[in-house]
Amino acid sequence: MSELLQVSGLTIAYGGVKALDGLTFSARAGEITALIGPNGAGKTTAINCVSGHTRPDAGQVLFNGRDILGLPARAMTGLGLTRTFQHLRMFGRMNVLENVMVGLHGTARAGFTAAMLRFPSLRREERRMAEKAMDTLSFLGLADLAGRTAGALPYGDQKRLALARALVSEPRLMLLDEPVAGLNTAETGTMGRLILALREKGLALVLVEHDMSLVMRVSDRVVVMCSGAKIADGPPQEVQRHPEVVAAYLGGGKEFGLCA
Ligand SMILES: Nc1ncnc2c1ncn2[C@@H]1O[C@H](COP(=O)(O)OP(=O)(O)OP(=O)(O)O)[C@@H](O)[C@H]1O
Ligand SMILES: [Mg+2]
Repeated sequence: MSELLQVSGLTIAYGGVKALDGLTFSARAGEITALIGPNGAGKTTAINCVSGHTRPDAGQVLFNGRDILGLPARAMTGLGLTRTFQHLRMFGRMNVLENVMVGLHGTARAGFTAAMLRFPSLRREERRMAEKAMDTLSFLGLADLAGRTAGALPYGDQKRLALARALVSEPRLMLLDEPVAGLNTAETGTMGRLILALREKGLALVLVEHDMSLVMRVSDRVVVMCSGAKIADGPPQEVQRHPEVVAAYLGGGKEFGLCA
C-alpha cells in the first residue's frame, strides 16, 4: 500500500528549543500509525504542522503526493485531511448536531451570497449537511444525543463528539491527538473499537496517545519521538523491543517517562 501522508524533515524551534528536529514519518490508507513519546516530545506540534495550524521552519508535508505545507487549516478539510485536538474545542452552548455540522465547514457548496439571501439551494445544503451529521452520529453511537447541549455532555461523549466532527466530512486521513486521555477503561475500549472501525473503512489514521496498551493493541506502525526527533519506527512488537524505547520507559508502566 502506498503512503497517503509523507512527512519529511519537519523542523521548528521555539526560542532556541527545537520542538521538532527533522521529523520524518508516513501514514498509509487502512492503517493506524501511532506517534508516541514523552510529554514535550513534539507530537502535537507534528500534528499541528501537518494540519496547517503551525508553520514549520523547514520540512515537507505531502498528502496524496501533493505538497500541502503552508495551506491554511481550513483548506485541509476539503482535501480530505481532518484532526481532533488534545484539548476539546467544543461549541459548548450549541447542540451536538450543530457541533458536528461545524466539521463540514470548508466543504459547503453554497456561497455567502446564497446564505444571505436564503436561497433554496442553501436550505437544501443545510438539509444535506444535517443528514450527514446525523449519519456520523449514528455510526459513533451518539444519535440519541443529537439535540443535547454539547457542553453538558459527559467528558467521554464529548471526546466521541470531537471524533464525529472530524469524521463528518469523510476524510481520507485523520490525525487524533490523545483520543482516550481522561477516559475510563470502558470508554477507552469503545473509542478503541471506533478507531479500528475507521481503519476498516480505509482511513489513514495518525494516533497520538500516551495509553500504551491501546497503542500496542491497535497500531500497525509505531513512530517513537523524543525531543522532536524520531528514535524508532516499526511494527509495535519490534518497537517495544527497541533498546532506546525500552530505556525511555520508566518502570515499564503504561506511559512513557523521560527520554533516554
Ligand atoms: N506555541 C509554542 N510556543 C512555545 N513553545 C512551544 C509551543 N508549542 C510547543 N512548544 C514546545 O515544544 C515542545 C513540544 O511540545 P508538544 O506540545 O508538541 O509536545 P507533545 O509531545 O504533544 O507533549 P504532550 O504529550 O504533553 O502533549 C515542548 O517543549 C513545548 O513546550
Ligand atoms: Mg500533545
